[in-house]
Formats: sequence, C-alpha cells, structure tokens
Amino acid sequence: MGNLPAGVTLKIEADAQALAHAAADLICAAVQQKPDLSILVATGNTPMPTYAELARRAAAGQADFSRVTAVQLDEYLGLTDDDPRSLWGWMQRSFVAPLGITRTIRLHVPEEFDRDVAALGGLDLALLGLGPNGHLGFNEPPSPPESPTRTVTLTPESLESNRVYWNGLAVPTGAMTAGMNLILSARQTVLLVSGAHKRGILRCTLEGDQTPNLPASLLRRTALTVIADEAAWL
Ligand code: PGA
Repeated sequence: MGNLPAGVTLKIEADAQALAHAAADLICAAVQQKPDLSILVATGNTPMPTYAELARRAAAGQADFSRVTAVQLDEYLGLTDDDPRSLWGWMQRSFVAPLGITRTIRLHVPEEFDRDVAALGGLDLALLGLGPNGHLGFNEPPSPPESPTRTVTLTPESLESNRVYWNGLAVPTGAMTAGMNLILSARQTVLLVSGAHKRGILRCTLEGDQTPNLPASLLRRTALTVIADEAAWL
C-alpha cells in the first residue's frame, strides 16, 4: 500500500463484526479517558454493528456513556420529527437511547449548532462513515475544508445510496450537514468502512489526491483512524 501520512492509522479487521468490536474498543477507551466526551455521530449502515456492540457493553455495565454528548452529523430537510426517515430519529434509536446518553446536540439551525458545539469545547471525536462518492456526512463533492455547517442539495449518488435505508420511501433531496470545518477540527477522527463496494473509494480516500472532490480524503490532515474490514481493503 502507498504512503499513509504520519497521523493516519489503518486497522484492517476480518469482517464487519470484528470491525464493530475494534471501533467499540476505540470509543470506550476514549470515553474512559474523558467521560464527558463530545462525539459526532454518523448514521448509515456501516456503524450500526458498532452501536449495537456499544449498547451491549452499556447494558452489561462495562461502559458508561451517561456523561457523553452525542452530536448529530447530518439531517434531511423538510421532515417532521416522527417521519421514519428522520436521521435524528435514527440516531436516537441506534445510539442515544441504547447507550443511555442524556446529552445531545441536534442539527437544526446551523449557527445555533456551531455555537452549541463550540460551547462544549469542540468535538473530541468524529465517528464517520464513507459515502460511495467520498462524502462525509452530507458534505458532497466538491466540499473544500472550510465548508461550514449548511444546507445542501444531495447528489444523485447520495440519493441512490440513501434509498436502501427507507424501504421504498423517497429520499429527500435537501439536507443539512455539519461542516467540513467542524469535522476537520475534531481532536480525533474515525472512519468506518465495510464491504467490497467501498474498496475503490477507500483506496482513493487514503492514497489519491487530497481534494475537495473527495471530501473524505481531507481527513488525512487530521488524527485519523480508519477501521476497515478485509472486504473493503484487501
Ligand atoms: P453507509 O453510508 O454506512 O450506509 O454505507 C455511508 C455514507 O453514505 O456516508
């Protein structure tokens, strides 16, 4: 494999379950070190086994997330709170409630969101998935590093990749995302990548140019840990 920048760690795990364990280990270690961790939380399919493993550890009394703040990464526009496609709802069901988290920052109004995250002292950890087009949250290509928290129009690639989540319901075309500037300012970033369909984009993310045309490639300037399964890398 090509040269990875000094700050980047790549962990290859046998499969999605092993990936979930490794990611849960990393997150639990971060929470142990700083019980009031602020963490930017991705939805999507990739992190779900990790969240299930974290929930299992919380239920077993092996981890305590009660002082953690969960920060929403992205959201569709124009949905009511009870809409099944709400990403806030997905984050609540998969992460906040099962882990016993009581503190959250919701992505609603960009200026308020950025102010609330700043008041917390910024992000300790950004937990991210990799879009098939290299997006982070809904920072679609091209997204320069200084891109702020904002509303965006989703690309055809993201509309297509998001379709699998919603059982035939239409994917909203408008969205809001935490900015690249916020993601890149996190003290630690973790990118989870699972499945053979992510192999090409993962290679480009780690070994291609660092470019706004592939927003995830910009993570290489951060303290980045990539946890991938063999299907996504080998
Ligand atoms: P996935 O989505 O985890 O469902 O593959 C990742 C993304 O689009 O950011």
